[in-house]
Amino acid sequence: MTERAVLAVSFGTSHRDTLEKNIAAIEAELAAAFPERTVRRAFTSGMILRKLAGEGTHIDNVPQALERLLAEGCTDVVVQPTHVMNGEEYDKLAEQAAPWEERFARFVVGRPLLTGAEDDAALASAVADSLPPIREDEAVVLMGHGTEHFANAAYAALEDVFHDMGRKEVFVGTVEGYPPLEQVMRRMADRKYRSRALLAPLMVVAGDHAKNDMAGEEEDSWESQLRAAGYETRCVLRGLGEVPAVRAMFVEHAGRAMDELV
Ligand code: CO
Repeated sequence: MTERAVLAVSFGTSHRDTLEKNIAAIEAELAAAFPERTVRRAFTSGMILRKLAGEGTHIDNVPQALERLLAEGCTDVVVQPTHVMNGEEYDKLAEQAAPWEERFARFVVGRPLLTGAEDDAALASAVADSLPPIREDEAVVLMGHGTEHFANAAYAALEDVFHDMGRKEVFVGTVEGYPPLEQVMRRMADRKYRSRALLAPLMVVAGDHAKNDMAGEEEDSWESQLRAAGYETRCVLRGLGEVPAVRAMFVEHAGRAMDELV
């Protein structure tokens, strides 16, 4: 009998290695922090869920996971997203979760990783501390996902926070939003970083974007483009979920959401 639950909601990934190292690691941390609650998994990406189903793995979407908890007699649910931003996927989650509020005695949806200014500071420190020692004249290029949603502004705010903490070598770019790599490379040259670059994903998992768009062999990957421009490069292929201080941020967000349960 599971009366109380945390539903950990992720965008999802079809790369099993990074799913285990990041999403499962965040879920395990939530389970350890809240032993009185059962922790369940849901993904918001229909594309990923269909891909996994085709490979024989069923993972619940948000309504399916909530329906299952309700059927099991659960009365108290904290929905904690592992999304980075208050963007499209989070809006979708909030919309899907809303009708369930009345069906559970206690129900709350926690906030994504980057919600308040204190989150920017915590994430910048966590990421800075997790990187290998930076070499002379080496720029750090972080690959965010990026979005058309106004939440995309979070990337610029985060880069500012890195610079304010003295990490002026950090550049934040995006695969699908602003700024694209082209713009980041212009800024790198402007700020006299012309010889070395360390690349790392600014995403919860190191999946397709990190492995292919960032570190892939193809000539349009970020690493290939930087090399073609004369940079000596290296890549850190690790999702944010592998950084303990980032996992702690998700636990903290879930705890704050729990405080709002009435
Ligand atoms: Co994408």
